[in-house]
Amino acid sequence: MKAFALERLVPAHVRAFEAYVPAPPDDVLLRRFGVTHLHRLNNNENPLGPPPAARAVLARRDAGEAALYPQGDGWHLRRTLARHFDLEPEQVILGNGASEVIAFVIKTFCEPGDNILTADRTFAVYEWMASFSGIEPRLVPLLDHGFDDVGMLRAIEGRTRVVFLCNPNNPTGSWWDHARLARFLAAVDGRAIVVVDEAYAEFAEAPGFPDSFALMRQHPNLVVFRSFSKMWGLAGLRIGWMAASPPVAAMVRKTSISYSVNLLALEAARATVWDLAHIAATQAHCRAMRAGLAALAGRLGLEMLGGIGNFAMLRMPIPDTVVHRRLMARGVMARAMTSFRYAGWLRVSFGDAEAMAAFAAALEAVLAEG
Ligand SMILES: Cc1ncc(COP(=O)(O)O)c(C=O)c1O
Repeated sequence: MKAFALERLVPAHVRAFEAYVPAPPDDVLLRRFGVTHLHRLNNNENPLGPPPAARAVLARRDAGEAALYPQGDGWHLRRTLARHFDLEPEQVILGNGASEVIAFVIKTFCEPGDNILTADRTFAVYEWMASFSGIEPRLVPLLDHGFDDVGMLRAIEGRTRVVFLCNPNNPTGSWWDHARLARFLAAVDGRAIVVVDEAYAEFAEAPGFPDSFALMRQHPNLVVFRSFSKMWGLAGLRIGWMAASPPVAAMVRKTSISYSVNLLALEAARATVWDLAHIAATQAHCRAMRAGLAALAGRLGLEMLGGIGNFAMLRMPIPDTVVHRRLMARGVMARAMTSFRYAGWLRVSFGDAEAMAAFAAALEAVLAEG
């Protein structure tokens, strides 16, 4: 192969970025860890799967349709969501998962020299996408495992373009209520775009969770993210969305990628809107699994963190990476949190009852080894 000066062609911020390597597929992991079954409790998926209407849509599809492009900007789904949330269809922009929507927002508002603001221990993709786009991510430390509003307000300056809040926060489950988010928006006073990532909003049972779509009417700099991967059980189809005030949405639309959401995702997502029975069943499942995990934590003397969401964190008495490896050898995959700046903690998704029982038995055995 002929050598060429690759380094010269790659911007310094891309060269400096360390690529994220996702876990290998199950068949590879099964062989690697010598197990016959793997309970995946690492991705905050919904063990109930998609609601019945979405399942029916998927079952009806004809394989021949794979040859056709989907409609390019989710015309029908945007209208369905707009009707449900009292928005205009133009305020809704879809993406290949909420992850892709993060990129649209950074591309729209940031150029080199600008910065984005988020927390040090939250969904890492805001930080990563800024870094590999040549935008400086500024990270405000969590306070008591939650977003620090005072610290974030203090950190906003003239080149801060976007503030990313994760509400509830992945991985801690902490959350701001409506009054706190409203106070924060009033204090930001339009100096930056404020994104509130509500990927787990549908898990909120507590009164007082923000009505962000209402706040958007008073604060046109507010952008709300939602995902179909968590509550709606469509993680494998990759679809998420954002809503913004009409002028902000019009800007973001310029950098959004048409046709990036496939036709199965569009149709299945539309069929989920807004199945309250599915939400209630999933919330009940999470309540039961959270209680089971709290009982396990109590028995093993482990600290547990977890508010809103389909996951919780447990503090390990030995390194989380060691626990992770030993759990894998017992056919259970949880998330070791060292790489998320939470050394010593394990994040566990609320899987089905069988997976949670397997996790409990495996963790007891792993910790008994010392
Ligand atoms: C807080 C948060 N936002 C966004 C996402 C991405 O969701 P999607 O699957 O829609 O890309 C996740 C996924 O884990 C998440 O935890």
